[in-house]
Amino acid sequence: MKLILLMAQTVDGKIARHSSHFPDWTASADKSYFARRTREAGVIIMGSKTFDTLKTPLPGRKNVVLSRDPGRVSRPPDLIFTAGPPARLLADLATEGFQEAILAGGMRINSLFAGAGLIDEIIVTVSPRIFGSGLSLFDIPLDLELRMVEVRRLDGDLVLLHYLVRH
Ligand SMILES: NC(=O)c1ccc[n+]([C@@H]2O[C@H](COP(=O)([O-])OP(=O)(O)OC[C@H]3O[C@@H](n4cnc5c(N)ncnc54)[C@H](OP(=O)(O)O)[C@@H]3O)[C@@H](O)[C@H]2O)c1
Repeated sequence: MKLILLMAQTVDGKIARHSSHFPDWTASADKSYFARRTREAGVIIMGSKTFDTLKTPLPGRKNVVLSRDPGRVSRPPDLIFTAGPPARLLADLATEGFQEAILAGGMRINSLFAGAGLIDEIIVTVSPRIFGSGLSLFDIPLDLELRMVEVRRLDGDLVLLHYLVRH
């Protein structure tokens, strides 16, 4: 099971202005790339605050949402709320037959998986924006070493950076 962190960020490394900021600031090429790549993987993992900005599960993909709120109700097989440990969650997805999963934020859940050493690849799309303050990719001290796989101009001013995480 390969875990790929896929995030949109500003040039100053922000993923949102605040926890409930709807991601309406990314370009259409960014959204299309995200849709295509997550459909390829078939499963997307996110935190409950990110899910709340989307409001509904992304169609055609299994949506796994990290939450400790027992009031959240799963609708299998496409919407699963879980507080399970990240490694167990990935093992369960592998058992279901998934070969890769997309980790799609936000900052808290990215940190949970990164802190456990579970991220294999990182793809960030860099939008020509500056927020100045806001949420970063992670919010804990980390020391990940990366190897670049690809740098690509997606469309207009949008750049895609793709890295492998050295384990
Ligand atoms: N630019 C991008 O590509 C991108 C991508 C994704 C998100 N975002 C943005 O990021 C923001 C949200 O990020 P965030 O860091 O505030 O929140 P988040 O990571 O999406 O979700 C945090 C929530 O996850 C749950 N959680 C935390 N630790 C957990 C654990 N160990 N086990 C189970 N559940 C756990 C808690 O929810 P409960 O209270 O339900 O337990 C917590 O409030 C939004 O503005 C969103 O738009 C941007």
